[in-house]
Amino acid sequence: MEPATLEIRDLHVNVEGKEILKGVNLVVKQGETHALMGPNGSGKSTLAYTLMGHPHYQVTQGDVLINGESLLTLSPDARARRGLFLAMQYPISVPGVTLHSFLHAATSAMRGYGDKAQTGARGRLNAHLIPMREFRKELNENLDRLKMEPPFLQRYLNEGFSGGEKKRAEVLQMALLKPKFAILDETDSGLDIDAIRIVSENINRLQQDLNMGILMITHYQRLLNYIYPQFVHIFYGGRIFQSGDASLVDVLEEKGYDWVKELATD
Ligand SMILES: Nc1ncnc2c1ncn2[C@@H]1O[C@H](COP(=O)(O)OP(=O)(O)OP(=O)(O)O)[C@@H](O)[C@H]1O
Ligand SMILES: [Mg+2]
Repeated sequence: MEPATLEIRDLHVNVEGKEILKGVNLVVKQGETHALMGPNGSGKSTLAYTLMGHPHYQVTQGDVLINGESLLTLSPDARARRGLFLAMQYPISVPGVTLHSFLHAATSAMRGYGDKAQTGARGRLNAHLIPMREFRKELNENLDRLKMEPPFLQRYLNEGFSGGEKKRAEVLQMALLKPKFAILDETDSGLDIDAIRIVSENINRLQQDLNMGILMITHYQRLLNYIYPQFVHIFYGGRIFQSGDASLVDVLEEKGYDWVKELATD
């Protein structure tokens, strides 16, 4: 199968009436890894949320497409079904919903079990869910790989999770949903040194298995030592200021963003 393409075309976005994204252009193909780096408040998370279809973010111009099909009128779950996944910088907690039931429901929905329930498939109760035996096997394999303990699944989603636990839970979700494109918004933040290695190994494995395209938002070179980006983009003032290869990371480590601020004209 031809690798899929995620295209961001001249994207302008308003938040609370203020323009935050000012013409973002980017093409990510399946199998590619792109790193997006930029100062605080430059609009990186705004881009991530907009791609996923968060209702707060109003697209005023431009388009987002997968294989030429615009996503803009699609709900977040329809975008997920097209193969898009977002690991949030600040995952929200959902008291009352366990991590296990959330993962079971989300994975089932992504694989079309909800559709089967509507047509009354096999007249079975819970026809909208993947059979537990099948799901448990896959879940346990991924727990193992992420070095997470099974009792953790009975906790309410993100409720009281440590910073690192939240990030691991996001990657667990990604492993089950098997996206074509993963947007990872500071998935390294809050991870200790061992956790960075474990999480990165899992992301790399998923990328190989699924031929995933990755858009990785990060502030630190550290993560990029584990997940190698072929493309690096400097994000500034609501748009991509400069793109290059991995050597651009060294430039940023050495010089910071002052030179970008000087050269960028708003
Ligand atoms: N819901 C909102 N209401 C008001 N302002 C917002 C909202 N969401 C984002 N912004 C503003 O948009 C700008 C960009 O924020 P964003 O979170 O995208 O930055 P970022 O590049 O991800 O920063 P960081 O590196 O700190 O995560 C900021 O000035 C922020 O305050
Ligand atoms: Mg952010």
